[in-house]
Amino acid sequence: MAELAARLAGRLRLDDETPSAVVYDLGAVQRRARELRDALPAFHHCLALKAAPYAALLRRFAGWGYGFEAASMPEGLVAHRACPGATILYDSPAKTRLEIERAQALGWVLSANSLDELARISVPCSLRVNTLVGAGTIAATSVADARSRFGEPHDALPADLACAGWHAHVGSQGCSIDQLVLSARRLVDLARSRPATRWINLGGGLPAQARYADYAAALARAVPELFEGRWTVYTEMGRSLLADAARAYSRVEYARRGVATIHLGADFLLRRVYRPQDWSYPLRALGPDYAPRQGPALAQTIAGPLCFAGDLLGSVDAPTLVEGDIVEIGGVGAYTMSMWSRHCSRAMPPVYGIDDAGEILTLSEGETERDIARLWRAAAAPAVFDASSPPTGALID
Ligand SMILES: Cc1ncc(COP(=O)(O)O)c(C=O)c1O
Repeated sequence: MAELAARLAGRLRLDDETPSAVVYDLGAVQRRARELRDALPAFHHCLALKAAPYAALLRRFAGWGYGFEAASMPEGLVAHRACPGATILYDSPAKTRLEIERAQALGWVLSANSLDELARISVPCSLRVNTLVGAGTIAATSVADARSRFGEPHDALPADLACAGWHAHVGSQGCSIDQLVLSARRLVDLARSRPATRWINLGGGLPAQARYADYAAALARAVPELFEGRWTVYTEMGRSLLADAARAYSRVEYARRGVATIHLGADFLLRRVYRPQDWSYPLRALGPDYAPRQGPALAQTIAGPLCFAGDLLGSVDAPTLVEGDIVEIGGVGAYTMSMWSRHCSRAMPPVYGIDDAGEILTLSEGETERDIARLWRAAAAPAVFDASSPPTGALID
């Protein structure tokens, strides 16, 4: 299979109207989803919607037997509408009473974040517990140390508390398989001591590069009870399923003094720009034909389009970039578009998927200037330019 950029040559045009786009390798998404299912076939896997809630992707996951983890009501409703009947694990840490009522009416599997919240729920549900396995390497996405506000400490629960399920999530990306497995061990110990338990939710958190087979083998060694069929076991992976399956492409608009300015920055890669010590994304310099730039290399800074000094994505070693070249950003399939920032009010780019046969699917049309005007309530004014037709994206048929 040709690599993604080569498959886009002559198919995806980056121009003034659409200077950047995100592209998922749909075959890679399917292979990763299958890898998790094959590694842990008896578990019920759910995709963490916050990673990338495109309806067309969700429908594919539902077709492969996946359910979804929703951290907010709107997020859950996207999955509910896109995939009627799919399992939705609903664990927002700030559910209102109305949201709880609606989630119950919709048949979602609720997870209470605290004993206070548990008291508001009138259907069998799970309680999130803090399994106290400690922080991972990224503080902001670690939620299983003693300071975490997520869940009740597993070792301080009322002795007579009986829940239908127990839920834990350790953190994202910076957590090791050992931490995830210890967390599972503690959940199972809890379940074993509470006979009312019907399900266990192990959460997500596996790093993008981890092998699901390694996770499964470690679970089988340390927590064999999970495989006895005594309880339904859920997982809710996001990043590890999707991050490496997409790349972003942006035209270089200006290149001067060793800095190439492109059309994606902190609006798209929020984490990278504000916490560069924690997050990095591979950058590659391509020509306008998507072929890697060859020749004597020079380190050049890649800057985003936003108006602040820190909007920097990293650097590439490549021949001097010029207007019209393309910068490829790898690893952008999770927590990028779903974390889009409104700083400078730039429009979200279109998002496509390309399958192994080369078929292109639109996952999101992105936004137009009119969408942005509507957001800030300038929509009543006449359009400045003719924006009456919907965006067509940059696809060449
Ligand atoms: C409760 C819960 N489950 C699952 C996830 C998904 O984590 P990841 O994308 O790292 O797999 C998150 C991420 O924040 C989460 O908070």
